[in-house]
Amino acid sequence: MYSLLPTYGQRHIEIEQASGSYVTDTAGKRYLDFVMGIAVCGTGHRHPHVSQTLEAQLQKVWHTSNLYNISGQARVAETLMSGTHLTHAFFCNSGTEANEGAFKLIRKWTNKTKIVTFTKSFHGRSFAMLGATGQDKVKAGFGPMVSDFVHAPFNDMDALDIIDDETAAVWLEIVQGEGGVVVADSAWLEALQAKATEHGVKIVVDEVQTGIARTGTRFAFEQTPLKPDVVTLAKGLGSGFPVGAILTAAGAEHVFTAGSHGSTFGGNPLAMAAAEATLDILFEADALAHVNAMGARLRAGLEQFVDGETFTEVRGLGLMLGLVATQSVAAWIEQLRDAGLLVVAAGPDVIRFLPSLLLTEAEVDEALAIIGHVITKEMVS
Ligand SMILES: Cc1ncc(COP(=O)(O)O)c(C=O)c1O
Repeated sequence: MYSLLPTYGQRHIEIEQASGSYVTDTAGKRYLDFVMGIAVCGTGHRHPHVSQTLEAQLQKVWHTSNLYNISGQARVAETLMSGTHLTHAFFCNSGTEANEGAFKLIRKWTNKTKIVTFTKSFHGRSFAMLGATGQDKVKAGFGPMVSDFVHAPFNDMDALDIIDDETAAVWLEIVQGEGGVVVADSAWLEALQAKATEHGVKIVVDEVQTGIARTGTRFAFEQTPLKPDVVTLAKGLGSGFPVGAILTAAGAEHVFTAGSHGSTFGGNPLAMAAAEATLDILFEADALAHVNAMGARLRAGLEQFVDGETFTEVRGLGLMLGLVATQSVAAWIEQLRDAGLLVVAAGPDVIRFLPSLLLTEAEVDEALAIIGHVITKEMVS
């Protein structure tokens, strides 16, 4: 009897071993991994520095709770926010938890309830975040939703008129991940920032998928005119160890008081060891330059498949890229897996690429060769 709730549908393979950009399944088949736990293992699988840092921490202390000081939290917070306008951090365990905490923060900070989010956004599966998410399929059967989220069309100038004096916050991804790897236009973001400033509205940037160097800068908002009041993080922050964070700009530090928010596991010594080691690697200028170089190489290679008929464009930033098709990509994802390349869909018609941020040129080229082989075969047949 199958003993798990069927939330993930059928799972075809189990990965038994992983190293760098490669994984091996229980049948001994090796794959080039361009999913990386869905944008989680930015340092690749089992990076030696992360592994050694975690092993050293395992010999000291695993968990203490936030009843006691955990000095790694201050170090990770300072590394995350150094050189930005952000001043304070709270650590938790996932993207949903970071967003849920940010939601509480915004409610208490602004004393208002209207929050503008965008169609096709994804912010998590807790009740507030189901309300925030601009996709009906995740809400089906769970109503009524947490109210006062208003969904506006993404990248639509006129839609910004919905931001008014009653609005607590406008909440967005810079690159919509689950929604199809859709990049926010710079001019639109400039107008959004201006509207928010005009009406005293907070800006929350959900960097759960885009953060921690994935888009070629430490945070995606650094490539935009936005000055967010709140940034949420998770996925890439712990290289596979669950870590989430809320980062805040000046003014937020007085909103939560002792007892108004918390997390038993949040920011525990193991999580902070994983985050510290991850940032040692990915926040280096060389690593960011590498993400941009490999992103450009992958993008250029993918653009060769854009023929206007089967594939229409390549979207994304850095090493968060999507190849947009005119039809469902589900069959290709399976064929690519069988051919030795793991990729994940973003919506029904986009093949999403989220490789290790440290991957090599040869690994980019290997992926492109597999894609070329699978797609050409499909186009001919
Ligand atoms: C932009 C964004 N926000 C929030 C989440 C939810 O994060 P988690 O699954 O860690 O709760 C995700 C997950 O895909 C995401 O992509």
